[in-house]
Order: sequence, then structure tokens, then C-alpha cells
Amino acid sequence: MKNERYTTRVAVIGTGFVGTSYAFSLLNQEVVNELVLIDLNKEKAEGEARDLNHGMPFGSAMKIWAGDYEDCREADLVVITAGANQKPGETRLDLVEKNVNIFKGIVTAVMENGFDGLFIVATNPVDILSYATWKFSGLPMERVIGSGTILDTARLRYLIGDHFQVDSRNVHAYILGEHGDTELPVWSHATVSSQPVTKMIAEDGMPVLDEIFTNVRDAAYHIINRKGATYYGIAMGLVRLTKAILRNEQSILTVSTLMQGQYGLHDIYIGAPAIIDRNGIREIVELNLTEVEMKQMHHSARTLRKAMEPCFE
Ligand code: LAC
Repeated sequence: MKNERYTTRVAVIGTGFVGTSYAFSLLNQEVVNELVLIDLNKEKAEGEARDLNHGMPFGSAMKIWAGDYEDCREADLVVITAGANQKPGETRLDLVEKNVNIFKGIVTAVMENGFDGLFIVATNPVDILSYATWKFSGLPMERVIGSGTILDTARLRYLIGDHFQVDSRNVHAYILGEHGDTELPVWSHATVSSQPVTKMIAEDGMPVLDEIFTNVRDAAYHIINRKGATYYGIAMGLVRLTKAILRNEQSILTVSTLMQGQYGLHDIYIGAPAIIDRNGIREIVELNLTEVEMKQMHHSARTLRKAMEPCFE
């Protein structure tokens, strides 16, 4: 039964680094009324819930508990962060088969308990697992959203801001495609205070932009090699997406969503800008990509389709 109360409930599945960083960010940003932590390791979920609750007097009043799939029944959002994560030297696509099987169990259990809200998918490979969640849940595409390239776009904006020494919030730039090695920067639409970035660099400036993009694309590897995993950036991106949905913001974020002809692509979840509201995906924004950018987008889609084929034959 859909949550008819005047409270917002989010259920987080997976209390690893990403799930708990997301929970901690939700608490500190005072986003929801109720937060349920679900994990196979119930002791871990219970420990995380108690730890977060003890911070409540310093923050907002909300209810946090370690629960189970029946708690999804009245959730507005189910956020899936559970699954195997990248180890040093692994790509996100190396996790496909293992995590698709895990997701089959999770999504089936959530739906069997009467969930009627929206899914946010964070586990990698996020584009393929978003597609899997859409397939396994039977929900309309607008209610199954992957974090997609939301973090890659943030990384791009941060590095462009750092290069030009301006606030990254005054940078508009997008990463599209796979959240992974075949993602692409849309330099043709990148601006700083409405000035095209390609006009702001020196004549021979493209190598600077190439270096910025390489650092965006490979950011996770460099972090994983140093601290074993990434979680703060993605957690904040998940909170941004949660706010856009629960507050009906009509915000544009580069999430993983189902292409139904946009960018000449069909039947694939991939990162693209979309208008996000209370019902999820309101509209996919079709940027006027250059020929090179469109080729890169299709290469990214082919890479994803090749990786997911064994799981969805
Ligand atoms: C990263 C993980 C979320 O890019 O894939 O940090």
C-alpha cells in the first residue's frame, strides 16, 4: 500500500560504506522522517541504526531502525546499495553476473511485500542493475532510476571549477553514457557562468580538457587504490536525487534511465540528463550532441548491451 501518511520513508538495502554514508547524509541533511536499514547481516544493520539514532539529539528528529522487506510496503523510496563492489583492478562491468543474481532476490522480495514507490539503484554496474530492477520489478520506467553519471557529472563540474578557480556550482557540464570506462563528456554544452568552456581555454586547450575528463573517468580507480572504496561522493549524489524526488523539484540530473528512442537508443538504461519530480523521471533531456559525442554515446550503449546480454537472453 502506498504511503498515505504525511511522513516520508526511505528504505536502504545494504549497510555497507555507500548505504551507511547515504543514511548518515540523510540524517544530517534532514531529508526524511523515517529511514529503514535492511541488510542480510541484521546485526550490522542494527548496529548502524543504533549508532545513527544516538546522533539524533544533535540533528533532526526522525525514526531510524533496522528492518526487513515488509518495511518497504509503506516506503516512498527503496534505495539499493547492496552487492559486491569493485576491488582494485576490477572494472564495474566485472560485477555484472554476481550482482544481477543478487538483485533478482532483492527486487523480488521488495515487490512481494507490496512496495508501490520508486527504486533508486546505486550498486554497480549501475546501468545494468537499473535495467535489471526495472525488469524484475515490473514497475514503469519512470519509477526505476539509477544513480547513473550523477557522480561523474559532479566530478567534472568540480574539476572544471578547480581549473578555472570558480565555484563548481557555477559550472554546467554533463557526463553521459555508462557510469564507467565508456562514459563521455559533453564539452559542446559545458559552460562556466554561461561562457562555453571550449571558448575559455587557450587555442591549444583541448589537452587540458582531455586531462580533466581522464581524471573524471578514472577517479574511482584512484580512490579505490588509496582507500579501498568510494562512498562519500556517491552518497551525497543519492541524497541529491532523493531530495529531487521527495520535494518534487523538477531538477535535471544525469541519472541512469531507460532510453526509448532518445539519442537513437532503445531498451537500455544509460546515463542522460532527465527532469526529476515526485513521480521519478518526468522527461529525458535530449542534448544536441556533436557527431563525435553521439558516436561515443552509442559506443557506450553497445558496451553495456554486450555486458548485459548473458544475463538477459
Ligand atoms: C564511483 C562509484 C560509485 O564512481 O562507481 O565512485
